[in-house]
Amino acid sequence: TDDEREARFQQRVDDEERIEPNDWMPEGYRKTLVRQIAQHAHSEIVGMLPEGNWITRAPSLRRKAALLAKVQDEGGHGLYLYAAAETLGKSREEMVDELLSGKAKYSSIFNYPTLTWADIGAIGWLVDGAAIMNQIPLCRCSYGPYSRAMIRVCKEESFHQRQGYELMLSLANGTPEQKEMAQDALNRWWWPSLMMFGPPDGDSVHSGKSMAWKIKRFSNDDLRQKFIDATVPQAHYLGLEIPDPDLKFNEETGHWDIGEIDWTEFQNVVAGNGPCNRQRIKQRRAAHENGAWVREAAVAFAEKRRARKAA
Ligand code: 3HC
Repeated sequence: TDDEREARFQQRVDDEERIEPNDWMPEGYRKTLVRQIAQHAHSEIVGMLPEGNWITRAPSLRRKAALLAKVQDEGGHGLYLYAAAETLGKSREEMVDELLSGKAKYSSIFNYPTLTWADIGAIGWLVDGAAIMNQIPLCRCSYGPYSRAMIRVCKEESFHQRQGYELMLSLANGTPEQKEMAQDALNRWWWPSLMMFGPPDGDSVHSGKSMAWKIKRFSNDDLRQKFIDATVPQAHYLGLEIPDPDLKFNEETGHWDIGEIDWTEFQNVVAGNGPCNRQRIKQRRAAHENGAWVREAAVAFAEKRRARKAA
């Protein structure tokens, strides 16, 4: 019966076994994985836009090469993740349509503008830093294709974070104007980076199930705290100020306590009213239309090759 199969499935998850595409799985397990992996893939692809904005304006060849490599990596991460979602029976076209129609979510963080070069440093340091916190546990996700994709992604992610932090270090140790640029970027990216980890545990609709199925290994708040504890000392090392007057080290818990996160801002951005939501989707739609001829050519070529083989 279904109950017996569910029990056997849960036993496999509890025994830390990897679930593979052809294994039996509860419909809810499949659904939440398609939801999360597709949104993760969309986040990688949309995440190329804020950074792509600065490739032609990087201040040196070295910075341009590092940024170009990072943006290319994000495209590759999107590819691994769309492929992982396809193993669950979701088609690539369907996922892309859901993104372009505004139906699918992608990470709130990519709806903020990159106003100065320092934003590229802040994104590498904070956004990729937060992504690493979130993606390391996903390497141990119960679903095989997702965990294997994450293992590859995490190797590249640490380069992204390090090149961002090094960029911030050179600005913070540069002229007063450069240090001011770094501080301004930290002021604008700190709180949105904390929101990346998702709503507070009490408002997280999926955490319970995701944790039982060992998709999510740590709660949103736990990972957020881990990120804060790791990042505050890095900001101090840069000689920069975290934009939170309530930030205070808690001797008892050994953690940094922060002020209130503005969850209405988060809900607004997720609902599509962030600073750049419309622009990001418009850019993705244009890229999809301009790239149609490549897809058509690839399909025509594949047909020809198949016909030649069959002949
Ligand atoms: N942006 C947009 N939507 C978000 C969000 C965010 N930062 N955080 C949560 N949400 C949404 C969830 O998708 C869910 O909505 P849905 O039911 O329509 O999908 C709702 O808010 C409730 O949140 P939950 O905590 O219940 O949802 P999850 O259990 O899925 O947890 C998550 C949210 C921690 C983001 C989880 O989905 C996850 O770990 N995803 C994989 C990692 C990921 O997507 N990272 C995003 C950034 S990608 C990136 O950083 C690339 C790097 O190279 C820069």
